[in-house]
Amino acid sequence: MAESAVSAALILVEEVLSFLEREANLQKDVRGDVQRIKSWLSAIQASLKYMDGKEGDDILKDHVSQVRDLAYDIEDVLDEFRVHVPTKFHRNRISKYAEGVIHHFKNWNALHEMSSEVQRINRRMNDIITLDCLRSISLEEGSSSGARVEICHVTPKEDDMVGFEGYKETLINYLVGDSRSGLKHIWVVGIGGSGKTILVKNVYESKNVLKEYDCHAWIHVSRSCKINKVLRSMLKQLCKVRKQSDLLELDDEEVRVKLKSELQQRRYLLVLDDVWGEDDWKSIVHALPQGSGGSKIIVTSPKHNLAKSCVGSPDYYILQIKELEKEEAWDLFCRKAFPSNGGCCPRELEEWSQKIVDKCDGLPLAIAAVGSLLSNKRRIPIEWKKLHDSLGSEIDSDNSLAIISRILLPSYKDLSKNLKNCCLYFSIFPVDYSIARERLIRLWIAEGFIKERGGKTLEDVAEDYLNELIGRNLVVVSKWDFDGRVSICRVQNLIKEFIILKSKEENFVKVLAESDSSSSTDYKIRRLSIHHSKTRWSDRSGLRCVRSLFIFEWDDSFHSSRIRKLLHDLKLVRSLDLEGAPLTKFPEEIVELTLLRYLSLRGTQVATVPKSIKKLAYLETLDLKHTCVTKLPFEIYALKFLRHLLVYRYNFKNYVAFDSVQGVEVPAGVEGLSAIQKLSLINATKNKKIIAELKALVQLRKLGLIGLKREDGRALCASIKEMEKLLTLDVRSSHKEEYIELDDMDDKPPSILQRLYLKGRLHKIPGWISSLHSLVRIGLRWSRLETSPLEALQVLPNLMELEMVDAYTGDKLEFKAETFKELKFLHLEQIDRLNTVIVEAKAMPKLEKLTLCKCEKMEMLPLYINNLTKLQELLVYDMHNNFINRLQKNSEFRDMIEHIPVIHSFTLESNQDWSLQNFS
Ligand SMILES: *[C@@H]1O[C@H](CO)[C@@H](O)[C@H](O)[C@H]1NC(C)=O
Ligand SMILES: *[C@@H]1O[C@H](CO)[C@@H](O)[C@H](O)[C@H]1NC(C)=O
Repeated sequence: MAESAVSAALILVEEVLSFLEREANLQKDVRGDVQRIKSWLSAIQASLKYMDGKEGDDILKDHVSQVRDLAYDIEDVLDEFRVHVPTKFHRNRISKYAEGVIHHFKNWNALHEMSSEVQRINRRMNDIITLDCLRSISLEEGSSSGARVEICHVTPKEDDMVGFEGYKETLINYLVGDSRSGLKHIWVVGIGGSGKTILVKNVYESKNVLKEYDCHAWIHVSRSCKINKVLRSMLKQLCKVRKQSDLLELDDEEVRVKLKSELQQRRYLLVLDDVWGEDDWKSIVHALPQGSGGSKIIVTSPKHNLAKSCVGSPDYYILQIKELEKEEAWDLFCRKAFPSNGGCCPRELEEWSQKIVDKCDGLPLAIAAVGSLLSNKRRIPIEWKKLHDSLGSEIDSDNSLAIISRILLPSYKDLSKNLKNCCLYFSIFPVDYSIARERLIRLWIAEGFIKERGGKTLEDVAEDYLNELIGRNLVVVSKWDFDGRVSICRVQNLIKEFIILKSKEENFVKVLAESDSSSSTDYKIRRLSIHHSKTRWSDRSGLRCVRSLFIFEWDDSFHSSRIRKLLHDLKLVRSLDLEGAPLTKFPEEIVELTLLRYLSLRGTQVATVPKSIKKLAYLETLDLKHTCVTKLPFEIYALKFLRHLLVYRYNFKNYVAFDSVQGVEVPAGVEGLSAIQKLSLINATKNKKIIAELKALVQLRKLGLIGLKREDGRALCASIKEMEKLLTLDVRSSHKEEYIELDDMDDKPPSILQRLYLKGRLHKIPGWISSLHSLVRIGLRWSRLETSPLEALQVLPNLMELEMVDAYTGDKLEFKAETFKELKFLHLEQIDRLNTVIVEAKAMPKLEKLTLCKCEKMEMLPLYINNLTKLQELLVYDMHNNFINRLQKNSEFRDMIEHIPVIHSFTLESNQDWSLQNFS
């Protein structure tokens, strides 16, 4: 990664140079020195590129790390300089603005300081530059790592299950039927990478299995699990009802009690993934009751012995996963390597393919990785041979990490420099940590890993990168969004171990985990990730150069004073992620971190943002979701590069309520945020001026606005017409009875809009909505329409999700024949007079999930619900008793719904808990 360090330094050098050229005519000597650094860096960069992927001896490695450290030093010096001259530089420089402020620059001291540092660096450069290895390098041979990033659309894959049909069947047989017997344990054992987790996940996600159970949870245990955390997470998943906020207030003992009482009467399915220690397993199992008949616990473990020693009762099975048979391995490989060829291997590649597969020792993870890598290569034997030779030949085949490492290495080396960085980024997160796509992307951007390309925004390019890593089997998707995009993702454990190995080699991040004692280190820390708050950091000088700081776990030892001390020692930091920190006040130390690009205080108790926020002139992301902030100062508009401003908070209730989300008030002047892409949720109640000002925000992709009056509609429409990139619009009126009027857009509707939420009364559905061909999700709340909205919505060709809450005052909803062809999710809530729902022939042919909530007049099942053959889940909340009775197994209407795997009915109890009846 020396190359990365060098190119990062190079970018900075260029910025500083162009600044010096514009500004500091008198400082020719400084400029000369900086120019010299630039030439040196360019030469080094070229030679590093050449050496990348080549084996080197220890001396060479040592030189390379010297180069890297020097590059880091250069970056530090230049960044220090920038700290003193804020707002003048930016990698996406908006030059007009920069020019405007530039002549206020008076801080010559900083310049002199930099100048002398630069001279010192020049001397060190001269020492390194005499290296033989760097001098003798010819540059004609390019490196193999092309920055080839194709847009690959990833879709959920089934084909990783090859060779597993037998296991799958066995496992399903264990899980389905047999509802009388007691709690059973099923152990699935196999070495790392053998695919046991994929197998269990596949079975676990099958609706035919889930329908057998009242509730289910998937828990990753890992080697350093904390039992109380595990139990809490279990409770959260098992009691999957709409209200979760209470859970936060329970202490550890209460969690145990609640878990027991919740599970006592239920048939549950629990997966404990990746158990390593007997004690972990025991303490978890101890906390669980027997459950009602036929509850199951599936344990996956790499240790066969453990399974034997742990199982005390007679009620257990052990399923041993073996390596893939030759044929199965071949099959999987071909599917991965030749997807466009229908999974068929061309004859001329057979020999080398076979040899490659042999090296994978039947490990599906390895085979999939190497197959995906080859799918991007030219299909000529020499390429195949090259890969084969690079796979290494360790004999140590007992150690799956060793196998995976040598198999993954070529895949990893094949990544472009930026993709490598994106991949290494996962070493920052704790084991089994899943991260949301959008957060990951914003962080990558703040790190500077993403470069604009072909008219795409950085965010779009970053999403391509993520898809690329997924396509190469390096990253897995934990959850898909309803529209087929990645929602959250993570890396599998073995791959994670490999990434951590690489990350250590590259000095990419310093992770402070529980076992670490605070130690000082020789090398410079660029990223610091604190996984466990008990570990102390004593080397305070080391913090000065940290560019990214993450803290993942907060407990009592993390007082806000400790956080502030930590912040005080930072200086050059660009990404600061303090999500969930025990802060009640915005720490003023933050505003001194003037190079910050990414700041998250999400989930803290912070209530105000200081005026001095304006010092953070480079800020791109300000994430204040779920904080107590309800007002922003005018100075927020000084943040010219701000792309994402997120300030809102949900108040969870049992039902969707009009005021269940809170927004933020902003002063007039919002047009100053000219780079903004996401702006949510603005409360315009007091300040109507901003509605018209919004039209200057032409980069907007997501706009959330509340507090709207009927008479504001015209101005809002005029503003929206200017936002040609708008993808999400979320609008709420000032009061439940206040009308939203957005009729003024018929001449120019937001044509690429994908998500639309209208919350407030509507006279009718605005005509332009029917023309939104890209719309995938619409939510109508409190509209109280007199005529059915379905007429207007049924023409939307791509609608996948429709939510209506108190949206209609009629008593009948008719889904007409052959309409809503793409709809997957339908949610009807609080439709007071509704008594009849009719599904005509071939309406909603793809519907997967139907939720009915508190439609109290509805006593009959939707008519022709039997024709919704794809329906997987029917969830009802607080419906009429007669309706619920029709769901019973012995009801005469049961035939209509027999085909639906999951049927759950929830009722709100007087203690505000939801009780469940399972009719599956
Ligand atoms: C919006 O601002 C108004 C007036 O300042 C305030 O009363 C209201 O509670 C705010 N609403 C939300 C949902 O933030
Ligand atoms: C239900 O489906 C059957 C079989 O496809 C079809 O013949 C019938 O017309 C449908 N009924 C309605 C009203 O949707």
